Amino acid sequence: MDTRTSYLGLELKNPLMVGAGPLTANAESVCRCEDAGAGAVVLKSLFEEQIRRDNEGLDAALEQEENWHTEVGAYREADLALRYGSHEYLEILRASKKRADIPVIASINGTSAESWLQFAKDIEAAGADALELNIALIARDVFTDGATIQTEYENIVRRVGKRISIPFSVKLVPYFSALPWTINRLCSEGAHGFVLFNRLYRPHVDPGSMHIRVDGEDKYSSRKELAPSLRTIAGVAGRVNADFAAATGVHEVEDVLGALLVGASAVQMVTAPLTRGLNVLTEHLQGMKEWMESHEFNDISSFRGRLSEMNSAEGTMFSRTQYVKSIAVPSGSTNR
Ligand SMILES: Cc1cc2nc3c(=O)[nH]c(=O)nc-3n(C[C@H](O)[C@H](O)[C@H](O)COP(=O)(O)O)c2cc1C
Repeated sequence: MDTRTSYLGLELKNPLMVGAGPLTANAESVCRCEDAGAGAVVLKSLFEEQIRRDNEGLDAALEQEENWHTEVGAYREADLALRYGSHEYLEILRASKKRADIPVIASINGTSAESWLQFAKDIEAAGADALELNIALIARDVFTDGATIQTEYENIVRRVGKRISIPFSVKLVPYFSALPWTINRLCSEGAHGFVLFNRLYRPHVDPGSMHIRVDGEDKYSSRKELAPSLRTIAGVAGRVNADFAAATGVHEVEDVLGALLVGASAVQMVTAPLTRGLNVLTEHLQGMKEWMESHEFNDISSFRGRLSEMNSAEGTMFSRTQYVKSIAVPSGSTNR
């Protein structure tokens, strides 16, 4: 069975990627993912916010010094603390590239316009095979309209695209009023692919203590969360010139196959290998091969996208917004 797939112009030996998170936080764990059969990995994100927090102490100290050391002012202006902070990340990237044979995709989450560009350039220079932009600009106030946020996404993608020549994807959250249009716009600004979707932290309200909490469990997805990814990919695959990776809720081999059938080129998994062990990758790869054999598919391109909206009337099932017809009333019962 030929399980190879193409994602962001990279050849992956199979479509099972380990997504950004604790399993890809250093070169050792990247190698463990490779040994378990991963087709590619996305390194844990470089978070500008985190670097800034780590450097807050340093920054405060420098502020004191600035009065009598002129070079301190220049240091602060050049935001060297930020660059120094990303040094460790670049080392992890270099070590991962040196030790692993599978594609290593770096991931960044910036908060200031300039940092996206600087990080992207540094990451390209450090040898990443591709870059994932983990952009999660969420409307948090009552004054910012959707168009403003949309423009911010477009600006980041356009500017990064102009600055680097490695392929890059955008990892999106699902909160857009016209997602297919957004994807199309970001694609024309230079994005080569999309990871659909990122999963934001989901705190819950604990009525007992009347507090909002985040427990360990809230970090992990369930299989039921995959539907929005499948719906979106089914609608856009083949209609825009980009690759798609399904993420959030890919737990079982059926989820992997479902994602490929609606048009994804690959999947990203974090919860499943994190909670059940990396051997889920080995099992899913085996399961995928068995399914392909039993359906007489020699390669992924023979079935990828069969159930996308473009290729199948069934693909439109995902765009139903109401339950009207899908709730079957058992015969003999009264429809109250
Ligand atoms: C502990 C933890 C850390 C994560 N760190 C990152 C990260 O650094 N960057 C990122 O883009 N996503 C991060 N994620 C999100 C995952 O990459 C993934 O998108 C999300 O968990 C949904 O996939 P899943 O259903 O397979 O878990 C993290 C998730 C978890 C659980």
